[in-house]
Amino acid sequence: MRVTTTTQAPVDTAADTVAIGVFEGEDVAHDLDGAPLQALLDSGEARRTLKHLALTHAAGRRWLVVGLGARDDFDAERARAAAATVVGRLGELGTRTLCWELPHRLDEAQVGGFVEGTLLAAHRFDRYRAAPPEDETPARVEELIVSDHHDVSAPVERAVLVAEAQNRARDLAATPPNDLTPQTLAERARELAAEHAALSVAVLGRDGIAAAGMGAFAAVTQGSDAEPALITLRHEPADGDGYDLGLVGKAVTFDSGGLSIKPAASMATMKFDMAGGAAVLEAVGAIAALGLPVRVVAVVGATENMPSGRAMRPGDVVRARTGTTIEIVNTDAEGRLVLADCLAHARELGARRLVDLATLTGAILSALGHHRAGLFADDDAWAAAVERAAAATGELVWRMPLDPEYGELIESPIADLVNAGERGLAGSITAAEFLRRFTGDVPWAHVDIAGTAWDLGRPYAAKGASGWGVRLLVDLARAVAGE
Ligand code: BES
Ligand code: MN
Ligand code: ZN
Repeated sequence: MRVTTTTQAPVDTAADTVAIGVFEGEDVAHDLDGAPLQALLDSGEARRTLKHLALTHAAGRRWLVVGLGARDDFDAERARAAAATVVGRLGELGTRTLCWELPHRLDEAQVGGFVEGTLLAAHRFDRYRAAPPEDETPARVEELIVSDHHDVSAPVERAVLVAEAQNRARDLAATPPNDLTPQTLAERARELAAEHAALSVAVLGRDGIAAAGMGAFAAVTQGSDAEPALITLRHEPADGDGYDLGLVGKAVTFDSGGLSIKPAASMATMKFDMAGGAAVLEAVGAIAALGLPVRVVAVVGATENMPSGRAMRPGDVVRARTGTTIEIVNTDAEGRLVLADCLAHARELGARRLVDLATLTGAILSALGHHRAGLFADDDAWAAAVERAAAATGELVWRMPLDPEYGELIESPIADLVNAGERGLAGSITAAEFLRRFTGDVPWAHVDIAGTAWDLGRPYAAKGASGWGVRLLVDLARAVAGE
């Protein structure tokens, strides 16, 4: 979708459909001749309740009046939801060019919310379809025009970059695992590096991972015929030492469980087990596109988890890059093995703060459902920074505890650690405690997105891949940059 901004009134644009939001206690700011929009409100057909929608035709266009609720309660997330409501009607209206007439006195986050909500809600993953199903008339909007009294091009352009990155992360997670392999992700990282001067990329394959002594990552990948990729993507807008931010992503392009194989129903959606890695890659792309003055190193561990004659076995003991030995007790607890070596790698490269995103545990779905991701952190100030970014972007988290007592649940009788605690016992926390063994004294936050990466249930990302984490990471990078 092409997006432009204007200070002209919607009637003076080429839009075939205009959307106008109205707050409680307020009226349409600039009505048309004969006040058809105000009449719609006065008749009760249009309401100011959040997401209420009414349609009329005037001045050769369609006009959608959408309720925004109380101005005091309004935020970027409500703007996204209101935008998604509008987009939901555009398919049947056959809209090609939509104009948003923004209400007066919005802050930049709210302006961005309308744009993000429009782009996210209009997104379709239809690459594998010949034609849309007959009972669906998906929106085919070609252009979005944002109209306001003053120039809103800066927040609009930022929102476009972030929403497009998020939609790309969704596409990566939605792509079938026969087409999206670890090498596809490596290729995507190379594309990003080619697009932005401040980005550079390095990729290690199977031999490189083994040669680097990453025995935990290597164990996961050894059962698969697909060439793995340890992707290191750097954002270096200026010379300097180390990195202000280290982003780490789990990218298991298909998680069968390995020899501890998953039941068919649980395995069916496991193409999305790379969603953390996809969000990390696309967030770095957005950070570069936005030109944020922050040095970032991103490490994405991409592999399949498959059973085979070469697969890791329950009972195997492997040695991670840090020297820590791990007794594999369940080959389905593979994400933490991949992340152990990726976190160590990011730390060795000089990351001064770490965040990892991972579809790590089914247990986080039981705890928090699809609405919030689990946040685990060993540094209160860093946890608070993540919580602020979450609140600002609507990608909500809930902080979970870490305690040495939980760490005791992953002690091994023969090695330093086992890779899984007892089933049904604080599964998300023991997974986080496992990761903590590899982060040293670098402030670290782990975000378990197993519940939020798929079927998020938001109006602008209800079903399928959500691209969760792109907005959060970009906002966090902005905070680290001191903007
Ligand atoms: N990728 C899964 C986590 C997952 C499960 C995501 C369900 C989304 C929905 C992860 O690799 C996994 O299999 N975790 C196991 C860990 C257990 C074996 C300790 C789990 O959660 O069951
Ligand atoms: Mn697994
Ligand atoms: Zn997994």
